[in-house]
Amino acid sequence: MAAESGKNWVLTVTAQTPTNIAVIKYWGKRDEDLILPINDSISVTLDPDHLCTTTSVAVSPAFIHDRMWLNGKEVSLSGGRYQNCLRELRSRASDVEDEQKGIKITKKDWEKMHVHIVSYNNFPTAAGLASSAAGLACLVFSLAKLMNVRDDHSRLSAIARQGSGSACRSLYGGFVKWIMGKEENGSDSIAVQLADEKHWDDLVIIIAVVSSRQKETSSTSGMKDTVETSMLIEHRAKEVVPKRIIQMEEAIKNRDFPAFARLTCADTICVLLIDLIKIKAFTFQDNQLRRKMESFQGTPQVAYTFDAGPNAVLISHNRKAAALLLQRLLFYFPPNPDADLNSYVIGDKTILKDAG
Ligand code: ADP
Ligand code: DP6
Ligand code: CO
Repeated sequence: MAAESGKNWVLTVTAQTPTNIAVIKYWGKRDEDLILPINDSISVTLDPDHLCTTTSVAVSPAFIHDRMWLNGKEVSLSGGRYQNCLRELRSRASDVEDEQKGIKITKKDWEKMHVHIVSYNNFPTAAGLASSAAGLACLVFSLAKLMNVRDDHSRLSAIARQGSGSACRSLYGGFVKWIMGKEENGSDSIAVQLADEKHWDDLVIIIAVVSSRQKETSSTSGMKDTVETSMLIEHRAKEVVPKRIIQMEEAIKNRDFPAFARLTCADTICVLLIDLIKIKAFTFQDNQLRRKMESFQGTPQVAYTFDAGPNAVLISHNRKAAALLLQRLLFYFPPNPDADLNSYVIGDKTILKDAG
């Protein structure tokens, strides 16, 4: 047991993790418990100034249960996903020593010691802006630091994946691919960085927050319904996505915006068509305006994507195009809470560094 077990000490770690938005989407699982997807996916990690989770984790001999507070309210940790992450992390924990405080926690102590987790999202939770991605990546990353888990980001991504699939991609900055893997135990279903945050850093992301209310259908149950009921999903996973992944990797490598925009828009529309979730109509999808956006200077200047919710993510080629886009958005769709368009969030630096 900890050397100072008689004392009421607390050891804490705080971490911040940005969210990520998929441009080629994960939609469908082949294993619900291990969270193994039916296709590869690619995402862009966002600017944490606007969209990130901050999580503090603590361990103390005074704690008698694992507990978690999310955005100020206590939430249950009893779900299988949180338990899977906690179990994986505990089994990989190492000795922790803080000489100044006279604390020593051995590898074995971690099996019995309890943690408290306090997490806050600086953007709407469960509203289709990938809070589960930032949230679960941050939880795994901060606990791994606290428990002195020595595994690299790729192993941590496989743990975060078991909390929420999209979370595995938030451990890296820049452009990230989640490789679906082949193994039944999920050991090769991990995230890898395709390009870091400095690559193609003139992209600007504007998010139209249409609704910050909790969505009616969670991503988890939405994709489950799709896999169980859609005749198109298998075709998407086996035929459509593999080709798009190759083309998207090429587009990112060459900073080819027209190809990037075409693939991003095509993939979101594909998921929307297949998906059973009732996405609230957002008039930005209006063809006339979209054509206007796409026709600036003859080449597409804006890509758009939706992450299983009503909020639109617009990716613009550069600052000049972003300024023009914002001008038009504010003209056509001024923020108006009565009309359900609350605000625009602009990712200035856009693509950020690795978690931590
Ligand atoms: P989203 O589109 O926001 O990712 P999901 O339905 O995929 O919506 O996931 C929302 C769920 O993710 C929340 O109900 C909560 O269980 C979990 N979650 C969100 N943020 C956090 C966080 N910071 N820490 C732990 N869990 C979180
Ligand atoms: C549309 O990762 O939230 O954002 O694995 O069940 O937690 P679970 O689902 P989640 O699904 C994300 C779906 C998506 C596309 C994506 O991020 O790739
Ligand atoms: Co999610």
